[in-house]
Amino acid sequence: MRAVDLIRRKRDGGRLTPAEIGFLVDGIADYTVPDYQWSAFLMAVVWRGMDPVETRALVEAMLESGSVIDLSAIPGPKIDKHSTGGVGDTTSLILAPVAAACGVTVPMVSGRGLGHTGGTLDKLESIPGFRVDLPLGDYRRIARDCGLVLIGQTDEIAPADRFLYALRDATATVESIPLITASILSKKLAEGIDGLVLDVKTGDGAFMRRREDAEALAHSMVEIGGSMGKPVRVLLTTMDEPLGTSVGNALEVRAAVEGLAGTRRDAMTELSLELAAEMLLLGGVAAERGAALERCRGAIADGSALERFRRVIAAQGGDPRVCDDPVRVLPRAPCVAPFVAPRSGWLRQFRAWSVGQASMLLGAGRATVTDAIDQAAGIEILRRVGASVTVGEPLAELHFRPERGAALPAALELLASAVEIGDEAPASPPATRILNRFGAT
Ligand code: URA
Repeated sequence: MRAVDLIRRKRDGGRLTPAEIGFLVDGIADYTVPDYQWSAFLMAVVWRGMDPVETRALVEAMLESGSVIDLSAIPGPKIDKHSTGGVGDTTSLILAPVAAACGVTVPMVSGRGLGHTGGTLDKLESIPGFRVDLPLGDYRRIARDCGLVLIGQTDEIAPADRFLYALRDATATVESIPLITASILSKKLAEGIDGLVLDVKTGDGAFMRRREDAEALAHSMVEIGGSMGKPVRVLLTTMDEPLGTSVGNALEVRAAVEGLAGTRRDAMTELSLELAAEMLLLGGVAAERGAALERCRGAIADGSALERFRRVIAAQGGDPRVCDDPVRVLPRAPCVAPFVAPRSGWLRQFRAWSVGQASMLLGAGRATVTDAIDQAAGIEILRRVGASVTVGEPLAELHFRPERGAALPAALELLASAVEIGDEAPASPPATRILNRFGAT
């Protein structure tokens, strides 16, 4: 078997057998299929797609590239959540401690920033000392002791996804239903979970911009996850403007701490609670959505969710004082520049894709696999869609280091293309951004 023949077949619209897909994935570990061949294959899949049999074979081969963890010694339900990627979307850092405080163990394996979207691992690493590369023994112990653990793909857990995820980020091959399905399910099914809640995004800042594509992605994950014995529940949510008002790693951690402390209530915290409630339902910890939501709100109100976050941060080597004083503990960018309203009127659009791109330009994301990111860089949004604004009024703040100053004009230009200000107020987006729910109950 030769990789070049398989690439050619996929390029020309043919199908691959499970054995052929297994051959390509096995070739990652022993370098017999190098990254340039994988890059070409990924692009062929973006264009030609994969059918459900091929997609399932890719999930299985990527899952088998590492171990499937056994968490059966931990009592109670083990449920995780994953998002297909958004801008200003820090829900994981809120819902994981909330669900843990309500009796669900959350053994989370996450990714780094992908394209214009942020990644949970990059955000966590802005907490001084926080380690996302823990050995399996620590992963199990912390999951048991804290009720949650937050790590990345490792040599043991979904190593094929770690390799492909970074490659896709740098080769513009993220936007593909089979590739996203395989990336998410391979690492999530390796975790030893009983079920998975997915936040599938649609809209300007989502990888699946069109609702029908997002729904197809959701069904792909529900069906393949279910056929592999893991119930998957999906919330389909909008990603037209950034979900929260903070975009960028340290800025988003601060937003999450404020959400957990109950001092920030916005679309991001609301959606986090909705997702956490689904985790309680899927785990059988609550029988009905209203009661599940109440319990999640209670975990914020009584401080138990923030306490869980503090514990897991300490267990993973981070500075838990971030939970008391995020502004002082997290890295801060020395330069802050305003983006002002070009005219007066109603803010009708603040497009997430352009905001994500602008944040990347300031240093919050990567352009190549080896790029270092700036934890402090990002954008604070000051005005939301639906606001009435006056010409010259600041709509956002750009946070960056002086070395990145040259990128400022391009970032401002992106923000100018992100906003639409009109004479009429827009219809307001749903408060929780939820369009639909489906999958396992
Ligand atoms: N999240 C992932 O883990 N993988 C993807 O491909 C997209 C979002």
